[in-house]
Amino acid sequence: MASRLAGHFAFLILLFVVITKVQSDQKVFNVINFGVIADGKTDNSKAFVDVWNQACSYSGRGVVLIPKGTYYASSMVFTGPCKGQTLFSINGNLKAPTDKKAWAGTESWISFRNIINLEISGGGSFDGQGPSAWPYNDCNTNPNCVQLPISIGLDFVNDSRIHDIKLINSKNFNMKVFGCLRTTIERIQITAPATSPNTDGIHIGSSTSIKIFDSLIATGDDCISIGPGTENLEVSGVTCGPGHGISIGSLGKYANEADVKNLVIQNCNLTGTDNGVRIKTWAPSPPSIVYNVTFENINMKDVGNPIIIDQQYCPSGNCGTQASSQVQITGVKLKNIFGTSKNKVAVNLNCSPSKPCQKIDLTDIDLIYNGQDGAATSSCSNARGIARGRQEPPSCL
Ligand SMILES: *[C@@H]1O[C@H](CO)[C@@H](O)[C@H](O)[C@H]1NC(C)=O
Ligand SMILES: *[C@@H]1O[C@H](CO)[C@@H](O)[C@H](O)[C@H]1NC(C)=O
Ligand SMILES: *[C@@H]1O[C@H](CO)[C@@H](O)[C@H](O)[C@H]1NC(C)=O
Repeated sequence: MASRLAGHFAFLILLFVVITKVQSDQKVFNVINFGVIADGKTDNSKAFVDVWNQACSYSGRGVVLIPKGTYYASSMVFTGPCKGQTLFSINGNLKAPTDKKAWAGTESWISFRNIINLEISGGGSFDGQGPSAWPYNDCNTNPNCVQLPISIGLDFVNDSRIHDIKLINSKNFNMKVFGCLRTTIERIQITAPATSPNTDGIHIGSSTSIKIFDSLIATGDDCISIGPGTENLEVSGVTCGPGHGISIGSLGKYANEADVKNLVIQNCNLTGTDNGVRIKTWAPSPPSIVYNVTFENINMKDVGNPIIIDQQYCPSGNCGTQASSQVQITGVKLKNIFGTSKNKVAVNLNCSPSKPCQKIDLTDIDLIYNGQDGAATSSCSNARGIARGRQEPPSCL
């Protein structure tokens, strides 16, 4: 008994030492102490980058602390690799430029690059000030349009966590995840009006083992868009709407795009979105593969095109009708997809004539058409696979 108590006591001392060590390994860099001014007008970008550089070169856990308040900053690049872990703790509200000259030529307003072990959190917000920029977006009529800045760009950011932050009114995508590995995004909130152009919530490309959990995304474009080279993505507990739904694609715009594979998208609620779960590929398009994708437990409320594969994606309407998409879609499982559809065609599998979809698996589909002109229907072209369990509308596979 005594030796057991002594053992417990020794353990507690050890725990205390470990905790003290962890705390002493942390250094907080409060931006206010480094010349940042919380007046909402002074351009703090240089000061923020200076603070970042100091926190990033700290060998323990370097914390960039942004206290409550409103801050203005033009574009910033936060680069690693860092010596230790770096926490970007935003408690305040950070505002992007509204003057066109201040954003011309920047891909992202705030860019995090080449970092391992980054954490972004703090409950604060990133306000992209989109209304000042959306009128300059002519991308739906001009194929060579100049892209407006993304609010937060993560490039080559690995083993990191982004959580408990808000993104408001991005000029273009809210968040872009590119070349990242094992990074988790959770409990974030993204808001932009339904009419705002190209304000995708989270766009992912060339990234492996990204997780997106328990987030709210209301935008004018895709809730989550999944581009070439995305592998082992897990999405769960995301609420979307308004917006264009959860999309794989568009794929096949460029030659040599990397495949998209091993995705699980589950437990999501979509409300009032133009599409539900979608795979879109350009036609014509060079070859690539979409393989092993599961959409499961998706609750649709008043959603247009709840389930749609569109291999003739051509938003401008002049892509030529001759050649078809060479993107092979195979092993797409749709399981327990239910709710209401704004369109009569609730399940639309429009696959490529030259690369028919293979191994589509529809299990327990229950989609009710909202309109007055009859029940929901399915439409299949060049789609192969099986349907089982409940099938409402009746499957066309
Ligand atoms: C993150 O992982 C990717 C893919 O493995 C790699 O290309 C990149 O260099 C890594 N980033 C860092 C900062 O190490
Ligand atoms: C989706 O809606 C259902 C019922 O309305 C609710 O129980 C569930 O928690 C919601 N899921 C998310 C991710 O919000
Ligand atoms: C499909 O993807 C899931 C999720 O990444 C993975 O667990 C599973 O092993 C993959 N299956 C095949 C056959 O590749």
